[in-house]
Amino acid sequence: MAQQIAGFSTVGVVGGGQMGSGIAQVCATMGLKSVLVDINPKQIQSAQTGIQTSLDKFVGKSLITVDQKNLALSNLTYSSDIGSLASCDLVIEAIVENERIKIELFQNIDKILKPEGIIASNTSSIPITRLGSATKRPDKFIGMHFMNPVPIMKLVEVIPGFATSEDVTSRIIKLAEGLGKETSRSQDYPGFVVNRILMPMINEAFNALMEGVASAEDIDKGMKLGTNQPMGPLTLADFIGLDTCYAIMKVLHEGLGDPRYRPSPLLAKYVEAGWFGRKTKRGVYKY
Ligand code: CAA
Ligand code: NAD
Repeated sequence: MAQQIAGFSTVGVVGGGQMGSGIAQVCATMGLKSVLVDINPKQIQSAQTGIQTSLDKFVGKSLITVDQKNLALSNLTYSSDIGSLASCDLVIEAIVENERIKIELFQNIDKILKPEGIIASNTSSIPITRLGSATKRPDKFIGMHFMNPVPIMKLVEVIPGFATSEDVTSRIIKLAEGLGKETSRSQDYPGFVVNRILMPMINEAFNALMEGVASAEDIDKGMKLGTNQPMGPLTLADFIGLDTCYAIMKVLHEGLGDPRYRPSPLLAKYVEAGWFGRKTKRGVYKY
């Protein structure tokens, strides 16, 4: 019999970038039948390679067995067609941080997903209530915010929208726990908790760099060694994706209306140059 966690046995993940591939990997490793969907066939290829490499690392560290790795791989399928999500118990969206593009996707998923299917968004900052109300099932729509890198990081932020049912919220919390994560619950305000606090720090690092307060290396060293963070803020921004950081800052600025959330002009410039960080091999640093 197929594995179930909190009544979920089949999960669809949309967006095969760094987050979606990690989410699909974790779901498949914990025994759920998982399909990873991306519109870009190249991303599907690199998601497949990334998942294989990550599972190999876990086997190498004896964190999982070869059998567990093979089971995870056998639980995973890949597709470029959102039609393959129709019979999923849960669809987790992890596409680009852009409200218009996400809403268009949610409306399409809403049409094809079975009526009892739940939709979760991994959005970093966009209000869940607004995204959910673009569908005909806002009671079955929720924020499930994984942290990067998903296979390693312990936290999932759970964000019910205004209309999300308590039953859906508690099932999503149980699912996250069943995936080996801890959860924190947040109200639906821009950036929720983690990015409301993390992103202004990253943004300030760009302002400090822009003002010539210190070099990128010294800003990162100061924060890494001075405040015991695993990565300095500019390294972390490159890791997250500067396009994503910029999108989050714009949501905070628009949603909270306070000038202290103004995106750093230097962060904007990197994004305008197409220097998105590690994923484009160039951001604040070169990779
Ligand atoms: N799968 C398997 N293993 C992985 C992995 C993955 N996806 N990613 C990293 N690892 C492994 C590395 O291979 C490495 O293993 P070895 O030591 O055997 O080589 C191990 O994890 C540690 O990695 P590194 O040595 O490269 O570096 P590290 O010790 O600094 O750890 C890190 C890497 C876990 C990413 C750590 O630097 C870290 O915690 N950084 C901060 C991450 C963070 O803050 N994430 C949250 C971002 S904000 C967010 O996610 C929300 C949002 O909406 C933007
Ligand atoms: P990414 O740029 O690595 O990947 C996005 C993927 O979505 C790409 O593969 C792209 O081809 C795909 N895509 C775009 N439009 C699509 C569509 N209509 N249908 C199917 N696939 C589509 O981005 P990411 O870093 O994985 O972030 C994804 C989401 O997760 C964003 O909402 C982001 O804010 C959020 N998030 C990111 C992080 C992080 O640290 N990067 C952490 C937590 C949450």
